[in-house]
Amino acid sequence: MSELALIIDFGSQYTQLIARRIREMQVYCEIVPPTLSAMQIATKNPKAIILSGGPESVFAENSPKLDSEVWSLGKPILGICYGLQLLTQHFGGKVEPGTVREYGAAEVHHEHQHPLINNTAQNCKVWMSHGDHVATSPPDFNVILKSKNGLIAAIAHKKMPLMGLQFHPEVSHTDEGQTYLHNFLFKIAGFSGDWTPTHFIAQAITTIRETVGAEQVLLGLSGGVDSSVLAFLLHEAIGDRLLPIFIDNGLLRHDEANQVLEQFRHSKIKIQYVDHSAEFLSELEGVTEPEKKRKIIGRVFVEAFEKVANAQGNAAFLAQGTLYPDVIESGSVVGKSHTIKSHHNVGGLPERLRMKVLEPFRELFKDEVRAVGRALGVPENIIRRHPFPGPGLAVRCLGEITPEKLRVIRQSDHIFIQTLRNHNWYDKVWQAFTVLLPVQTVGVMGDQRTFENVIALRSVDSVDGMTANWSRIPADLLAEAAEKIVNHVVGVNRVVYDITSKPPATIEWE
Ligand code: XMP
Repeated sequence: MSELALIIDFGSQYTQLIARRIREMQVYCEIVPPTLSAMQIATKNPKAIILSGGPESVFAENSPKLDSEVWSLGKPILGICYGLQLLTQHFGGKVEPGTVREYGAAEVHHEHQHPLINNTAQNCKVWMSHGDHVATSPPDFNVILKSKNGLIAAIAHKKMPLMGLQFHPEVSHTDEGQTYLHNFLFKIAGFSGDWTPTHFIAQAITTIRETVGAEQVLLGLSGGVDSSVLAFLLHEAIGDRLLPIFIDNGLLRHDEANQVLEQFRHSKIKIQYVDHSAEFLSELEGVTEPEKKRKIIGRVFVEAFEKVANAQGNAAFLAQGTLYPDVIESGSVVGKSHTIKSHHNVGGLPERLRMKVLEPFRELFKDEVRAVGRALGVPENIIRRHPFPGPGLAVRCLGEITPEKLRVIRQSDHIFIQTLRNHNWYDKVWQAFTVLLPVQTVGVMGDQRTFENVIALRSVDSVDGMTANWSRIPADLLAEAAEKIVNHVVGVNRVVYDITSKPPATIEWE
């Protein structure tokens, strides 16, 4: 097992960011709720504990508490904001209630040397929490950092590895954030940084073999990053007892089915391709409401998958590409907004098929899946693919879906993506595509007045799809894509570029 850093989540919007920063330093970490007892924590045997920030005040009646035995486990503990207030209260210092719950830039300077602040500049910019703060540090603690206006910014126990920060080392506004975390993990807690893709792969393969035994595993393969990397990992573990199924729902992009099959043709993985496009399209005929479309696609997918699974015989397992953010969102203390994840498209499938679920990526973030893929030798063009929603072009064809409208979307999307690739912009954006709007507008071509469709170009920059900025693509590139689309895609006489971010808009239009 890898060495573990345990993050106790008091509800901060930055908790997942702490986890990512720690993982970037090749330290394995998990996020757990504060309701865990000291005993449960001890069983996990963490090498260090981090207490996250949180939206509550320690003075609020129902604010989350920490089992006080945790302080006596003898583990190095770093409290961040809310975590620092808990530390201060427990050890007899004085916390002063804040009047505002906001953050802001601040400058801190060294007050007392400590390994936590080694190799940081004497004066540093940090992202400070202006909520509750430490008025008097507890006995046996040194104040190690103070802000320019005299507030206590960091304290540390004189002998034990217990310390806290009033600011957020995990956010990019804190100049030396990684240094504080690095010092805590490596200089204070003695981590070795053993969490590497190769290490993960070796562990995952052992676990998969032990779990699966001599059984077979079904995998719904979409050709996207998660399911493709999963196919490579599972194949490495169990060879041809992996049965990957690629269902064509008729809502794929230009030449997509061929490209996916081609990419796998050169690997040892044998994919079963089943074309169910006729069923999907006939069930969708006449349906205009977005949620209804999604439900139909989900249902038809489950039915199609069920047919193939039954024909395959008796696979005992169904593999799914569930990622760590899905796992935390369902287990965390504070309700968090939900993104729609690919496996939600096949909800209920394992129960209906009476199969056990295999989720080897439950511990990983998306960027880690990519790193694992690279270590497994997954081709780079699969790893760099933009995300593509399960319901496919259906969510980009506003209103009723018809073969003719799908043709317009496929051709325009292909032109836009090719233009991005030609100008080396494909890899710079998170996701790009075209949307066919359900309106016609007037145009003029030659001497003719036209009355035809509008295509919207959408391109966004994002880290995880939960928030996104519209991409600042050069105007000349947009002009080139627009001109090609109007000239080559019959039925389109106008192209617009979507310049809304998420929120308030979403990435897809439906
Ligand atoms: P939105 O439109 O919600 O999209 O801002 C966020 C990310 O999720 C993808 N998306 C979906 N993926 N099934 C999926 O598998 C869906 O129903 C779905 N809706 C949106 C979207 O492409 C973007 O990457």
